[in-house]
Amino acid sequence: MNSFLDIHTTPKNDLRAIIDSARAMKDARDGQPKGAPDPRQPLADRMVALIFEKPSTRTRVSFDLGVRQMGGQTLVLSGQEMQLGHGETIADTARVLSRYVDLIMIRTFEEATLLEMAEYATVPVINGLTNRTHPCQIMADVMTFEEHRGPIAGRKVVWVGDGNNVCASVMHAAGQFGFDFTFTGPQPLDPEFEWFEFARAQGVRAEIERDPVKAVQGADLVFADTWVSMHDPQSAKERRHNMLRGYQVNEELMSHAKPDALFMHCLPAHREDEVTSAVMDGPNSVVWDEAENRLHAQKAIMRWCLGV
Ligand code: CP
Ligand code: NVA
Repeated sequence: MNSFLDIHTTPKNDLRAIIDSARAMKDARDGQPKGAPDPRQPLADRMVALIFEKPSTRTRVSFDLGVRQMGGQTLVLSGQEMQLGHGETIADTARVLSRYVDLIMIRTFEEATLLEMAEYATVPVINGLTNRTHPCQIMADVMTFEEHRGPIAGRKVVWVGDGNNVCASVMHAAGQFGFDFTFTGPQPLDPEFEWFEFARAQGVRAEIERDPVKAVQGADLVFADTWVSMHDPQSAKERRHNMLRGYQVNEELMSHAKPDALFMHCLPAHREDEVTSAVMDGPNSVVWDEAENRLHAQKAIMRWCLGV
């Protein structure tokens, strides 16, 4: 039994096998209606709980659809409507859910909640985003890059803006998949030092360049994300926007990256804040492919968790 908690804590070979499996499942579905069952039904008779303590469009729909395509069933649960939101401990919730379901995906606030769920559950647990990381997203993004441009190993990937949860998972992927990483953003929003150390320990470059124009030079891939994440207080919005205004991904900034540099954003995007519509709807943007690949990558992650 494997839990999928983070990219840096999952063995490299398993991460590569998950991407390969996602690719094969996507190819096999080519031209099929969205609801058509996969020829193999690896999740037949399996029940999957999808717990959301924060809003979601992509994670919710792609996990639910993925389970159904593989022959399983889902229970979509909102944290607030569960006893979890009313004082029952995470550990007790994990023990109880493990008697009902075969797999648990949770989107939550504190990383400690995810880790406690995984510690006390007797079924695998998947991280569907915490304040600290978003590994399913970046598995889909690695798959997306490689679909368009071939192996990501040795490429230059630049994160522009807030060194947030999605950025952390990109840095984990840098170490595990072997690509160079540059962060550009204001110093108060730097990613955790620990993630730079992790990436460097795997032998890749991981650096900070405050000047966004210099940062994107030679980039094969440029990432943006919202300037105010779901866990950030709304009261911080104005201050964060003021700090980040100089880090908008627009056509001018992209003109300093490689001509064929891809643009990615996990979505939801705030058009004309962190990215302009010209970039998001432009020829180098692969944001819709990223969203689609959440489905395929997570199907592969669920199969890896269950060993099916
Ligand atoms: N990218 C992503 O996780 O989107 P949702 O918040 O809509 O799930
Ligand atoms: N950084 C964003 C990602 C949303 C998918 C957030 O945590 O709100």
